[in-house]
Amino acid sequence: MQTETVALTREKETLLITLWAKAGESLLPDSLLKDRFAAEAAARIDYDFARLKVDRDLMIGLAMRAHVLDGWARDFLAEHSDAIVMHLGCGLDSRVFRIDPPAGVDWYDVDYPEVIALRRKLYPARDGCHLIGSSVTEPGWLGGVPQDRPAMIVAEGLLPYLPKEEVPLLLERLVRHCRGGEIIFDAYSALGLKLIALQPSVRVTGAELLWSLDDPTELQRQVPGLELATELTAYDPDGYDPAQIARMSWPARFAMQFFSLIPPLARIGLLLRYRF
Ligand SMILES: C[S@@+](CC[C@H](N)C(=O)[O-])C[C@H]1O[C@@H](n2cnc3c(N)ncnc32)[C@H](O)[C@@H]1O
Repeated sequence: MQTETVALTREKETLLITLWAKAGESLLPDSLLKDRFAAEAAARIDYDFARLKVDRDLMIGLAMRAHVLDGWARDFLAEHSDAIVMHLGCGLDSRVFRIDPPAGVDWYDVDYPEVIALRRKLYPARDGCHLIGSSVTEPGWLGGVPQDRPAMIVAEGLLPYLPKEEVPLLLERLVRHCRGGEIIFDAYSALGLKLIALQPSVRVTGAELLWSLDDPTELQRQVPGLELATELTAYDPDGYDPAQIARMSWPARFAMQFFSLIPPLARIGLLLRYRF
């Protein structure tokens, strides 16, 4: 097996947290995500993953987040077989293989050039899947993306790393570019961002968290055309399967229960779906 060395730092290195978590969760006997692609890719990376301190609870939590976003994307593709998907800050996430979109869909994985170069080495090419090596905040990359088809835009674990003035600008550019569609992503409140920055896995990378969102309707005001469709608080039973939470350790479950009872803590992390 050919291995690849990686020299990613800061926000780029965080992709190894989510990859390792999804790979690890997929090897658990009761796996939710069953992401064998992540497990195969991680096995080929020459990197000391232990330094990221990804524990079982984080594996399950990140698998649950990815599973909800996969579900929303699948629902959209079931209704729009001619859609495009923009997967922003894709890192080494294997979403295109997990979802396995139908032939009429064009999929765009976008991340920094060095991340895309690594993706090319670790994952096979796939018809209809296009790789774009660019910062998402550079407007030029959108030039190659069709404008006249329904768009599903997924940004998992990306927006909190962008400078705060860049997020509404990016969303506005996307909304203006596309005929219509949905954009789905995770966001943290200002308090949530402070807590995530203390998380050992993120701290070790030196990544800075910059963008927070206390009120999801604020984005509707900042970005004309965006309309909030779904808002899930962390492990909300309306979107997350309680049986998955039951897989976590008792201290994690206790902390979640405690957080859910205290309003500012209950809303520190959100999964959001907007239509435009
Ligand atoms: C926490 S990782 C998430 C990766 C992937 N979405 C996942 O869930 O496994 C954050 C990703 O955002 C990417 N990223 C951060 N800032 C970016 C930017 N300005 N342009 C493109 N990608 C960016 C990083 O390179 C990294 O791949």
